Amino acid sequence: MAIAKKPAGNKANKTVFSCSECGTQAPKWAGQCGDCGAWNSLIEDIITTSSGKNTPPRYSGYAGESEVCNITDVSVIDDVRIETGFSELDRVLGDGLVQGSAVLIGGDPGIGKSTLLIQAIASLSQRVGTLYVTGEESLQQVSLRAHRLGLSTDKVRLLSETQVQRILALADKEKPGVLVIDSIQTVYTDQLNSAPGSVSQVRESAAHLVQYAKQTGTAIFLVGHVTKEGALAGPRVLEHMVDTVLYFEGDASSRFRVIRAVKNRFGAVNEVGVFAMGDKGLREVSNPSAIFVSRHETPVSGSVIMVTREGTRPMLVEVQALVAESHLPNPRRVTVGLDQNRLAMLLAVLQRHGGITMYDQDVFVNVVGGVRVTETAADLAVILAALSSMRDKPLPNDLAVFGEIGLAGEIRPVQNGQERIKEAAQHGYKRVIVPLANKPAKPIKGLEVIAVQRLVEAIEHL
Ligand code: TYD
Ligand code: MG
Repeated sequence: MAIAKKPAGNKANKTVFSCSECGTQAPKWAGQCGDCGAWNSLIEDIITTSSGKNTPPRYSGYAGESEVCNITDVSVIDDVRIETGFSELDRVLGDGLVQGSAVLIGGDPGIGKSTLLIQAIASLSQRVGTLYVTGEESLQQVSLRAHRLGLSTDKVRLLSETQVQRILALADKEKPGVLVIDSIQTVYTDQLNSAPGSVSQVRESAAHLVQYAKQTGTAIFLVGHVTKEGALAGPRVLEHMVDTVLYFEGDASSRFRVIRAVKNRFGAVNEVGVFAMGDKGLREVSNPSAIFVSRHETPVSGSVIMVTREGTRPMLVEVQALVAESHLPNPRRVTVGLDQNRLAMLLAVLQRHGGITMYDQDVFVNVVGGVRVTETAADLAVILAALSSMRDKPLPNDLAVFGEIGLAGEIRPVQNGQERIKEAAQHGYKRVIVPLANKPAKPIKGLEVIAVQRLVEAIEHL
């Protein structure tokens, strides 16, 4: 575990160190909480004095003292939404960027966060004032990239600054409609002595920025780094503070990037936008079904096409499995883009209710294209892919499947079955295996719908 750098001490005595486990406050930093004994849990905090000395600043849009009012007295104004120039990004945001909202964009280094934002900002600057604050790259680097991408950035304002008060003072003068902070881990407030990027700095700086957004009606994008474990670096509170949290997904080797909304106060969660990274930056992919399926000329074993539904859109993805004899006492169960525990459970169901055992086999399952499938509708595809690989029997090229598998070996219906079936038909699939309850009432032309109730039925069909 990385040990946080010991802060320089709180000379001005405006800060305390509070334990994130038990809340005990201490005047000095220590590696262990003196009260509850938790290690590395002391986080620097600002003391807010009653004289108001440390109370946060007010920005030009500040509406005055707070009062209690009736909910009906609040005038209802429709969210003002601004188009980002990317319809895929607009959809993930819930139909455009909402004025005064704070959006956190997380993702691995080099996945394309800065590229996406500079492209979006270039387009946004045609409609609203924009300010791009860079703490990671120099002004030259940002400008060079924008130039290379051929963006019209004559109206984009740039700032290289990392102190949050100075950023906000300048923003208050510029009055941009959209503000980008790249990245939140480089921003710091001098009210705290901790190093930029530490939990207290990230939390405090984000609080200032979000408050600025709410008071002035400025939309802000915060770029956040992701730890090795895949969570946003810095405190979880960051996710609570903002309105929308978007994650960049996709593996470095694939040029496709998926942006997923994991939290959104203004739209559907789990909505995804699909992009492809090319030499001219990110390009949106409006028909993602076509790209996550590798069309084999002749059918290959271990490959199954499933219809998943990400957010509000059905999408065809390919699930691949490899089942190989194992020489390990504990055979491997490896998944990429799927839940590993779920695979173990499905193999147990297959053994109990299908009579097919894989206890002496390594099982690898992968979703093609770096997509992550989080829903249980993938169950049937996973099992059929594993079976097809074990028996080395390819499934037909024109077959698509979906369905959840229960512990009793039953195939359970999934949401939006009709839409998924239509998506398969639209992309030229001739056969689908679906849960019985998802069977469409009317037959679909050119599509054979095989409705199953139990796992054994599905296996028998192949
Ligand atoms: P970047 O936006 O700098 O990543 P982040 O801000 O998330 O760390 O993305 C940089 C990566 O994208 C880098 O590996 C190169 C690649 N890239 C392209 O392939 N084409 C392009 O036009 C650009 C601008 C970047
Ligand atoms: Mg970057």
